[in-house]
Amino acid sequence: MSERLDAAKKARTKVFGVLSSLPAERICDHGEGVYLFDQDGRQYIDFSGSPMACCLGHGDQRITRAVTEQMQKVSLCFNTYWINEREGELAERVLRRAPRNMARCQFLNSGSEATESAIKLARQYHLENGQPGKYMVISRWQSYHGMTLGALSVTGFSSRRDKFTPLLQSWPKIDAPLCYRCPYDMTYPGCEVRCARALDDIINQVGAQYVSAFIAEPIGGAASAAMVPVPEYYPLIREICDKHDVLFIDDEVICGFGRTGKWFGIDHWGVQPDIITMAKGMTGAYTPLAAILVSDRIVGVFEQTGGKFINAFTTAGNPVSCAAGIAVVDIIENEGLVERSARLGEYLHRRAREKLSHHPVVGDIRGRGMLMGVELVRDKATKEPFDSSLLAGSRVHRLAMEKGCMVFPTSGFVHGVRGDAIMMAPPYIITEAQIDAALDMVDESLADFAQEIAG
Ligand SMILES: Cc1ncc(COP(=O)(O)O)c(C=O)c1O
Repeated sequence: MSERLDAAKKARTKVFGVLSSLPAERICDHGEGVYLFDQDGRQYIDFSGSPMACCLGHGDQRITRAVTEQMQKVSLCFNTYWINEREGELAERVLRRAPRNMARCQFLNSGSEATESAIKLARQYHLENGQPGKYMVISRWQSYHGMTLGALSVTGFSSRRDKFTPLLQSWPKIDAPLCYRCPYDMTYPGCEVRCARALDDIINQVGAQYVSAFIAEPIGGAASAAMVPVPEYYPLIREICDKHDVLFIDDEVICGFGRTGKWFGIDHWGVQPDIITMAKGMTGAYTPLAAILVSDRIVGVFEQTGGKFINAFTTAGNPVSCAAGIAVVDIIENEGLVERSARLGEYLHRRAREKLSHHPVVGDIRGRGMLMGVELVRDKATKEPFDSSLLAGSRVHRLAMEKGCMVFPTSGFVHGVRGDAIMMAPPYIITEAQIDAALDMVDESLADFAQEIAG
């Protein structure tokens, strides 16, 4: 082992709380385009977008320049004393691409903070609107909205929740709209989208007078490995929310900024949410930045009452992160990268089906655009998942990494305790040849994994 790697491994023992099933073996030295390079100069294709945030690839000097220029001027500008020019410029850009009813933007630091803020905003909206009894946020199982306590309360990802259960709000959850493992053992379209109608049932059950919002990822992330609900799902959800005066919070932390082939994931359904949360792709993960978008309906009520949303964070909307966001959004727009994500996303899904679906361990390939999940199963015919102690996803991740390809392992979407998948979310600048090369490495890794478990 090189001295440098030795020293880095030793120093890493001082880092607390690294969440990985298998230890990391390499230093991430630098990045260029779709590749990351280790301490020996070996390249790894970032097929998981580092994870699921890196939309423009690594080392884009246009973003480095935008950030550096802003840093040379000023890095923090408290918006209660000053007009932060970059903040306003980015808000205008983001709102231009968002669903039409979105009227304002509040910047934050992380996706989890955006979820917290959306839960708080929903609550304060109902207070301002003369409905002080509404506070509860309904969400879904097999969902992920962040690690902080409010966000974890609405998260339906058992392995991330269970140690903290006594600290969480015990708000109701409905089943995930995952057709491959339909919670009602029904088949679409005969099911009449039972999974969406479940929201109506639960609101009636707990009492609409207590429910402030429903939160969902338009296309699932790590907790469901890129689950795509059927076309009727969100129009029905919108109708049910309206019927009960419940706000619809759309978590676009993964899907936003072109990841699924539209600016926002919910655009695939043409539905207008009341609050949108976003993070990752907004700066391509060059700097931490998140936001909530607020609809005209909510803004109207606050304007009427003169209420101020009680929510502020020291570094939120700092001009450096906003400068990164402006550069990223302009590049996405000027280079047609949302359209590219849609086009290459179709290629990615077609080639993945051609190259991977023959594997006995591949149960389902799902997702949209540059977001794809490959569910791993012990038995393809019965869909029986692997035993969780086998760490199927992490093992395929490790095997792929050895070949020079990064995929994101996830687990626990079968009743919270079983179910394994690997996810792909490459930068939108990836080429067809690079997709093929990465899928070949995944193909070999799946074959190696099948051999490992057989032997
Ligand atoms: C859908 C979704 N919401 C919220 C979050 C939390 O974001 P962060 O990790 O920036 O706090 C994530 C993180 O992966 C996510 O995937």
